[in-house]
Amino acid sequence: MHEVILTDDEKRMLQGESGLVAQKCMEYLLELCRVSGASRLIDLDGTGDFHTPMTSMSPYYEFPIEELRKIVDEGARFAIPTFANKAPFLAQPPVQGWEHCDVCAFQNDECLQSDPAFHHKAMREEWYELYRRMGMMTTHSCANYLVDTYWPTQGQHCSWNESSAIPYCNAVLGARSNIDGSFATCFLGKTAYYDMHVTENRYATVLVETERLIATDTEWDVFGFAVGEDAGVHVPCLTGTAKPTTTQLQKLNAAMNTGGAVRMYHIPGTTPEAPTTSYAFGGKTPQRTVVIGDAALRKAYDTLNYHTGDIVDMVYLGCPHLNIVDLMMLARKLDGKKAKIPFYIMTAPWIYHVAQEMGYVESFEKAGAHLMTGSCLAAMGAVPKGVKTIALDSAKQAYYITGCYPDEDNKLEVCYGSQDDCIDAALSGRWRGEWK
Ligand code: F3S
Repeated sequence: MHEVILTDDEKRMLQGESGLVAQKCMEYLLELCRVSGASRLIDLDGTGDFHTPMTSMSPYYEFPIEELRKIVDEGARFAIPTFANKAPFLAQPPVQGWEHCDVCAFQNDECLQSDPAFHHKAMREEWYELYRRMGMMTTHSCANYLVDTYWPTQGQHCSWNESSAIPYCNAVLGARSNIDGSFATCFLGKTAYYDMHVTENRYATVLVETERLIATDTEWDVFGFAVGEDAGVHVPCLTGTAKPTTTQLQKLNAAMNTGGAVRMYHIPGTTPEAPTTSYAFGGKTPQRTVVIGDAALRKAYDTLNYHTGDIVDMVYLGCPHLNIVDLMMLARKLDGKKAKIPFYIMTAPWIYHVAQEMGYVESFEKAGAHLMTGSCLAAMGAVPKGVKTIALDSAKQAYYITGCYPDEDNKLEVCYGSQDDCIDAALSGRWRGEWK
């Protein structure tokens, strides 16, 4: 096992001189160094994206709540600006719109997400109250970069989480983060110094070319999934694309981190660390060039689109969480229309208030669609009872939602396509989407 060099302060924390909570956090960070190969910790000067429900460092398993209560009463706070990734509690309830969420938490018939008592209990759990008192901002979104209003600047070291957020931090903002946003990193303001914190690891290694201009939202999504499958953990440099919109970057990031584990990428002329292709590669030659052609895109689309019939039971949009412009465009598209089947839309809680003020929530309701926030079906781990086929426009959601149904006889089927295909399915109850 390699040696991890700690500062005197860090050593004292590890010995328990700053209390049990800090000691357990140090033990966790030391373990993170060991598994990642890091030889030291780094002080964070950016922000934290605290994946509250499921990150490996969870006080549920590491120290009793009494210890946390005690230090919070004494004034303990997170060391860096910390934002909550997702809704609280393991069931990850929607924060708003939960009244319409006909999903059983834990796939347990007795815990319905729309039950007021269950919702209240989940949202006011004591751990969360304590995190709030420590300064955790209740953004509750996998895409909290859309709303947190305090973005790290280029080169700042962060501790974030989530598939669309990590490449957003690295590739789009030029800040630095691995997938490790946790209580320990946010509380101590430290993390293991490895992977994307190190300049040399951020250069591209794989040059990606295309046969068609990647321009539509669906093309970015499918392209991202195909690139991820090919690149794995490597850093791709994407060429042959149009300038992406924010929505398309969200889709690209989530899809690349689903098909593979892409934490960083470059689009020459668009992302901040790649003014040119040569910069993207740090002046070196690509290790390999891959062409994501039409056949590869078609293959990725077919992987995501798995259904045996054309009857659709439900439509779900909002993975990653929709931004405010997405909501505006969607409200316009649904104006005067009426869905025939259950239709959920997901966004970040802080966006909900603006959507309400703009009248979008009411527009969605008139169209038979419900706006929810702070969670997603894959995170909740279920769909409403009786739903056998769902229509989606997200590679990530399409890929993970089946994981909720490990039973082969009870497998959820997915119609994957564009947002317009999904709207058509909501209005008709049929799937007519196809790869274009
Ligand atoms: Fe977010 Fe759920 Fe998608 S966590 S990225 S909406 S799978």
